[in-house]
Amino acid sequence: MAGSTILPFNRPIMMGSELQYMAEAIAGEKLSGDGPFTKKCSALLEQDLGVPKVLLTTSCTHALEMFALLLDIQPGDEVILPSFTFVSTVNAFALRGAQPVFLDVRPDTLNLDESLLEAKITSRTKAIAVVHYAGVGCEMDAILDIARRHGVSVVEDNAHGLFGKYKGKYLGTFGALAAQSFHETKNFTCGEGGALLINDPKLVDRAEIIREKGTNRSRFFRGLVDKYTWVDVGSSYLPSDILAAFLYAQLENREKIQALRKDVWERYSANLKDWATKREVRLPHIPSHCDQAYHMFYMLLPTLELRQGLIDHLRQHGIMSVFHYLPLHLSEMGLRLGGKRGDCPVTEHVSDQLIRLPFYNSLTAEDQQRVIESILEYDF
Ligand SMILES: Cc1ncc(COP(=O)(O)O)c(C=O)c1O
Repeated sequence: MAGSTILPFNRPIMMGSELQYMAEAIAGEKLSGDGPFTKKCSALLEQDLGVPKVLLTTSCTHALEMFALLLDIQPGDEVILPSFTFVSTVNAFALRGAQPVFLDVRPDTLNLDESLLEAKITSRTKAIAVVHYAGVGCEMDAILDIARRHGVSVVEDNAHGLFGKYKGKYLGTFGALAAQSFHETKNFTCGEGGALLINDPKLVDRAEIIREKGTNRSRFFRGLVDKYTWVDVGSSYLPSDILAAFLYAQLENREKIQALRKDVWERYSANLKDWATKREVRLPHIPSHCDQAYHMFYMLLPTLELRQGLIDHLRQHGIMSVFHYLPLHLSEMGLRLGGKRGDCPVTEHVSDQLIRLPFYNSLTAEDQQRVIESILEYDF
């Protein structure tokens, strides 16, 4: 729009010490993985969340790939997961030859619908991968109960949910394993990065080996073995300590970041409520037993045409907004694996309806007002 600056959908910002810490990492001449800043990030997350072991990874995608290796997923194993998620949730298991079993989501939170779960469990089911969409917890009590009764592992894709809680307990601490993302679109970032949260202590040793190219290098550095060697399959999932230095500066500011994002979320919610109610637009639902992670603000418009119309209307005002996941069971790969229209009706519907509004730590009240006013002008 002429005369006005473009308001982006996302803007990664530094919180203060990022460059200083990166310079320290470089000056310390320890640029590869598992240096001092990696250790600081892991210790901070372990302490805050109460997780026995946290390993930084190069991405959430790679932490998810480690899930599949750690659970020993074999060709033909079934993994139940929502169709409404990012491609990495499913790819991690598909890479090992697993058959994804796509489950629909609840219409209120857009999280895996636990009432449909038990019927999908078969003798081949190896794992249930939950995604805490928008950093709002899945119904973990019911999911864990079903999984326990059937002897199936639960793992959490918590890319959106760091520091969110379900019934007072941190997301990422329910499953045997959980994955975090530090991609530039997330609350805390180092550009590209992630973490593997290991809640089942039995998986720690093997996770360290898989992350270190299938070697027992971590045990060697701790003086537990006198030489290191190839002991298992693995890959290189360690981020450089330069990136960990950037991330540590962000994590140190976790309270400030979450408070900034809470303000943004609440301003959208308060200012859009009346407009939305009058037009049957749905705003996010946060169950009273969930503390959300303030990762995003989305709205569900009544139809695809109205959703596209709003994205176009905002673009004309120089404001960037986006839709989110396309149903995985209807993707090219999903169809090849047997997906059919109608398999996940809620997912198919909300995928057409959903719009995500600009959301970042440094979004000022003034810029946000510009977004809100443009939406209030969109009448139908
Ligand atoms: C639910 C979910 N899982 C995994 C990922 C992948 O994260 P990364 O880019 O860190 O690999 C994303 C990315 O946005 C995501 O939304």
